[in-house]
Amino acid sequence: MTINARILGAAAGGGLPQWNCGCRNCIAARAGTLPAQSQSSVAVSGNGRDWAILNASPDIRDQMAAAPQLHPTGLRDLPLRAVVVTNGDIDHVAGLLVLRESQPFTLFATAEIHDVLAANPIFDALRPDCVARARITLDQPFELVPDLMATLFAVPGKVPLYLEGETVKTDLVGEQTVGVELRTATSRAYYIPGCAHVPADLAQRLRGADLVMFDGTLWSDDEMIREGLSQKTGQRMGHISISGEGGSMKALQDLDITQKVFVHMNNSNPVLDPASNQTRAANECGWVIGRDGMEIST
Ligand code: MLT
Ligand code: MN
Ligand code: ZN
Repeated sequence: MTINARILGAAAGGGLPQWNCGCRNCIAARAGTLPAQSQSSVAVSGNGRDWAILNASPDIRDQMAAAPQLHPTGLRDLPLRAVVVTNGDIDHVAGLLVLRESQPFTLFATAEIHDVLAANPIFDALRPDCVARARITLDQPFELVPDLMATLFAVPGKVPLYLEGETVKTDLVGEQTVGVELRTATSRAYYIPGCAHVPADLAQRLRGADLVMFDGTLWSDDEMIREGLSQKTGQRMGHISISGEGGSMKALQDLDITQKVFVHMNNSNPVLDPASNQTRAANECGWVIGRDGMEIST
């Protein structure tokens, strides 16, 4: 069976353009000279009928309207059966509030992320008689939707921005930041929108995969500082950069991965411009830059 994926939103939190940003990419996106991108989310299916959404972004309403696969097939029949959240970040959970119209689905996450959601009563808008909250143990496969198995596994990351304390560990490995492995009888795919670095065991896991959708937040670690947009490096945000010695292109090369796709691009990232040198360099290294509406099957 094939794994079908549709990138609902290719940008990181904020999207392109971001509401308060006057950077080159955001200006170009407002002017229509760069394709706008919505916030981080992917829909997946193993049979083309039953769909799961990986991360519920604040843009989910428009993303679902633009995705024929996710449209209602009856009065209140929806092909959406499940939602997975890979961390508690706002760009990945705020869309849950949009999915509150008495629609049954299962919400899959680690216990730690479920506790973060449960501590915030606004998420009680997802009524327990409609939305089952499945607490998933790391490295234990489960049926995500019919004909598609999933496994959550820890990747280095940090707690959500809104839970950061005085000191922040940016490469925690535990239940706060996970990747998703997807399997059918014949295909193996990964979705990892946030990852601080690639340890050897993660590289081993990805080896030989049919498809990897990976954290493409920043091209270089200091790009937001250089552009005058923020004081933060990518590492401080818990995101590996694409380029450089410690970057994801280097870390994921020679792993025999059939399709490699960057997702979760920050609006500062030059790969959001299809004509940039950085886009060409990533393409030459075997990477596709994810775009809203892109469909991938494997
Ligand atoms: C991230 O990916 O680093 C977060 O989405 C940042 C944020 O919460 O704004
Ligand atoms: Mn994010
Ligand atoms: Zn911008």
